[in-house]
This record gives sequence, structure tokens and C-alpha cells, in this order.
Amino acid sequence: MNFFEQTFMDFLLEHQERHGRTYHFLILMNSILNAAKRIQHYYLTGALKGYLSLTGQINVQGEKCLRLDEMANEVVKYHIWRSGRVIQAVSEEEEDIIQMNPDGRYFIYYDPLDGSSNLPHNLPVGFLFGIAKRNLEGPEDYHLRAGKEFIAAGMFVIPTGTFTIALKEAGCWRFHIDETMNYVKPTRISLPSDRSSWELSFNAAHREYYRREIAEWLLKNEKKYQFRYLGALAADFHRLLTNGGLFLYPAIINHPNPKKNYPEGKLRLMYEAAVVSFMCQEAGGLAINEKGKPILEVVPKHHHQRTTLFVGSKELVEEIASIL
Ligand code: AHG
Ligand code: MN
Ligand code: MN
Repeated sequence: MNFFEQTFMDFLLEHQERHGRTYHFLILMNSILNAAKRIQHYYLTGALKGYLSLTGQINVQGEKCLRLDEMANEVVKYHIWRSGRVIQAVSEEEEDIIQMNPDGRYFIYYDPLDGSSNLPHNLPVGFLFGIAKRNLEGPEDYHLRAGKEFIAAGMFVIPTGTFTIALKEAGCWRFHIDETMNYVKPTRISLPSDRSSWELSFNAAHREYYRREIAEWLLKNEKKYQFRYLGALAADFHRLLTNGGLFLYPAIINHPNPKKNYPEGKLRLMYEAAVVSFMCQEAGGLAINEKGKPILEVVPKHHHQRTTLFVGSKELVEEIASIL
């Protein structure tokens, strides 16, 4: 009787039961799955309905047409609110911290639609999330948590249909969507030690504006690896987790157009960098910022804080650390 694959929910239920855990995390994860499936559905029908690229348009009812990034935000917000388990949420799409259930047990940080420049082309985008637990004993210690305090972090690649999740000290796992819209077939992910599949992933248009040590390292080392860049962190990092190598988004300085400088990096710490760094750590890798500090150690000062990011195979990240 082994016809069908184990679903993510089977996997999680069994994991939680084995460790004698409560059901609260299951309820939260169920709401996250519901949200991801809905985003997947909207993506697949989006080109026909015109919300993959249209923005600022008004429909016949006189309502503003939402683009998929805004829809995805509403979808995630609704489902995690409905779970009743979230005290506060941080979304890339909302300026303020979103207050949910004061008795909620978790903080959640999410990017509902990562890589939106891929949207009009029907290329992969992502939904990234990190989860921290509130302080149940003693005074609440607030939502600005370092990645090392996450209990889980994951990403869906849409519409490809993969879901990768890391559970604290329990590894990084990948699932694939099946014909019943269940994510199935857990596969444990660890970064390969064999360098032959390693890749570098960065926006090569910016290389002259990186700080000197990084530009020089790239010149010296890039020919040893393949180069891949999809322009969506979720999709680029998805490749990297299985092939190994290094994804980098360094600070951009000295851009001829000063508006295009990102002295602190472009990516957001709480719902982009920390999420992939947590998954990377559980897969045996490492992530640092341009100061050489592990991303998971950085305590955010602001919920939309940006960061530089070097994430991937330990040896490569350590090489970068040694030149900074
Ligand atoms: P988002 O679509 O959520 O704003 O994120 C885009 C991010 C990230 O996904 C990607 O790695 C990076 O921006 C790409 O930036 P460049 O276009 O500068 O390469
Ligand atoms: Mn993003
Ligand atoms: Mn986004």
C-alpha cells in the first residue's frame, strides 16, 4: 500500500507528534499552505485575467485593479489572521506592523510575492516567510527578532510548485505540488560538497559598483563556477540549495545615478535575507552580511531594514568573510 507520496501535513503532524508538540504550529502552517495554494491559483489564471502586470487601472465597478503582489498580501494576511495564532505580522507590502490576535503565539515575517519583476513574463516568483515564537513566560520581548530566533522559515516557488521549509534543528526539506494541490514527497536538502555543481548568482550589471574587495574576488574566482540569475531571490536560492555555490547581493556604492545606490544592500533582513539564511543553515550552509556578521545574528532595528547578503556553501561564504 505505497501508492501515494507522504504529504507535507502528514510529515508535519508526525514530526510534531514525535516531539510532543502542541497543535498551534500545525494550525498556523495549515493557514500558510492555504495562502500559498491560493497565490499559486491566482498566478496561473493571472495572465488571462490581466493582473500579472496591470497596475493603477480601474475596473468597471470603479475599483482599483490589484496587481498580484497586492493580492498575495491580502491572501496571506487573511489566512494567517484566520489561524488565530499570530500576534503580529510584518509584510513587505505594508508600512506598519500588522496587529493580529493579542493572544497569538507567533510572529510572522513575510514577502508575499518575491521577484515581482518576473510577473509579467510568467517566470518564477516566491512567497517567503519566517516564524518566531512569542515569549510565553515573562514579559513579551517584541517582534524585532534575529533570524536565529526563528523556529521555522520557508518559501514557495510559484507557479513551479515547490515548497522548501527549514524547521529549527530538524533540517531543510523540499516538497513538490501534486495533482490534488498537496505538497508531497519530503526530500531532505543539504548543500552539496562537490564543487562541480556550484554556481554564482548575482546581478552582474552592478559589479562595478560593489566595494573593491568583492569586485576583485569575483574577477578572480567567477570562472570556476557557472553563473545563474533569475532575479527572484526565492527562485535563485532554490537552485542554490541543490547545486551549492554563492548568492550575493552586496552593497551598491558609486553608482553614477546616486538614487540607485544601496549602501546597506537591497534585500530586506526580516522577510528575505533571514528567511533564506535560516534555510541555508539547516542545509549545512552559511550567510553573512558585508560586515562579516552572520545574518542570523543581526537583531533588526526596524522591521523593513535592508541588508547586504552573501549566502550559500560554507567554504565560499568563508572565503568572502576573509576578504571583508
Ligand atoms: P520583490 O519583488 O519582493 O521586491 O524582491 C525583489 C528582490 C529579490 O527577489 C531579487 O533577488 C532582487 O530583488 C533582484 O534585484 P535586482 O533586480 O536589483 O537584481
Ligand atoms: Mn522580495
Ligand atoms: Mn515582494
